[in-house]
Amino acid sequence: MNAQECTFPFFLIIPPGLEKVSIKEIEDLKKEFLSKNNIQANIQIVSSEKGGINLQGPLEIAALINNNLKIPSRLLLRLATFRCRDFPKLFLKLGKIKWNDWCYEIGKIQSSAANSTLFDSRKIEKTAKQAIDNFFKNNPAKKNEHKEAIHPKLFIRFQDDICTVSLDTSGERLGKRGLKVGTHISPLRENLAYACLYYFISQLKEKGCPGPYTLLDPMCGSGTFLSEAKTSHVPRDFSFNYIPLMEKVKRNSTKRFWFDSYPLDLNIKNIFGFDKDSRAISSAQLNLNKVQSFSKEIFNFTLKQEDFFVKESIFKVSDESIIVICNPPYGKRLVINEPRQLYLESFIEQAKVKFSPAYLGILFLDCSKKSEDTLYFEHGGLKVAFNIYANTKFRI
Ligand SMILES: C[S@@+](CC[C@H](N)C(=O)[O-])C[C@H]1O[C@@H](n2cnc3c(N)ncnc32)[C@H](O)[C@@H]1O
Repeated sequence: MNAQECTFPFFLIIPPGLEKVSIKEIEDLKKEFLSKNNIQANIQIVSSEKGGINLQGPLEIAALINNNLKIPSRLLLRLATFRCRDFPKLFLKLGKIKWNDWCYEIGKIQSSAANSTLFDSRKIEKTAKQAIDNFFKNNPAKKNEHKEAIHPKLFIRFQDDICTVSLDTSGERLGKRGLKVGTHISPLRENLAYACLYYFISQLKEKGCPGPYTLLDPMCGSGTFLSEAKTSHVPRDFSFNYIPLMEKVKRNSTKRFWFDSYPLDLNIKNIFGFDKDSRAISSAQLNLNKVQSFSKEIFNFTLKQEDFFVKESIFKVSDESIIVICNPPYGKRLVINEPRQLYLESFIEQAKVKFSPAYLGILFLDCSKKSEDTLYFEHGGLKVAFNIYANTKFRI
């Protein structure tokens, strides 16, 4: 069997806490792929652990995943796993990998070690570089016809003397969509915002509320939640595009549909964003314009400067299917003038009075009681929780 027909082990890096929702995203992508192409996407979820998911599948899943999944941080291709306690063996083992299938030249080499005989990262990386250079001396690299290439990074990890060698297929971390042009204080990472939004909508669908929804963020900052609602096409490059074996797969016309986009429609029709700071509104405007320019659909969005805590909104949002999503200041980097729990309660009360949403999704410091329906993860080194609150029943 040649490499084009084999399956490979992959490791999908996930922000800790978001593993379950990521598995749901993979399952939804598989359904979308099946409905568009009438064949199963052969992605096996082998196991999940804190911070990642082990997958097995053909090489082309690297394209499918990088192009479509919006929660993970990075996809690694496992090239080799072996026991190793000395540098000559490391050199030998790395020299056996067919590097000219995997890169034109290797990108940055990064190593880590825990509870292992080999632990000096400088020496590990130097040995790896020598082994790869030696391989290319004896087996010339394939001709690189790209003017600019993202040469894939190599990750070498030692754990209990087991060495795992992984090739990065993503390039820049996947949370960077290449669409954020404006920022404001304490912006959310795009993949974290998407995870909350996706989880929110999935829960609503499970409750029998399929939308269409009107999404409103009353403290939108640079508008990450709002942009993520409509980011279907990501206009950036990935390092899998510069893996010679992948290019071979892509040239095979029967496999091209693996490289397509399969955006999930969150069924959000209207978007509203408010913030008391005019600079936040300007950056949200830039970001949403950019998303709009890459989107196939024209969508409605309205952004206005307004203090959330003023009683009456200057802007009437008359819709019965409003869902509010927000990450208000936590009282860490952005100050709040009340004890945290009180602030959260008055936020919820005000959102209900002001917008009468069907549901509220709030990302806040993890300070409430543990609940099964809560998404817990880390944001900027802080433990945070995304909670959904019901207001009235959906009347759509
Ligand atoms: C944590 S940031 C939100 C970040 C945003 N999700 C993003 O990704 O850019 C909180 C935002 O709340 C805004 N804010 C704070 N108090 C507000 C109020 N009373 N009314 C409206 N906006 C407020 C701040 O200006 C800030 O932009």
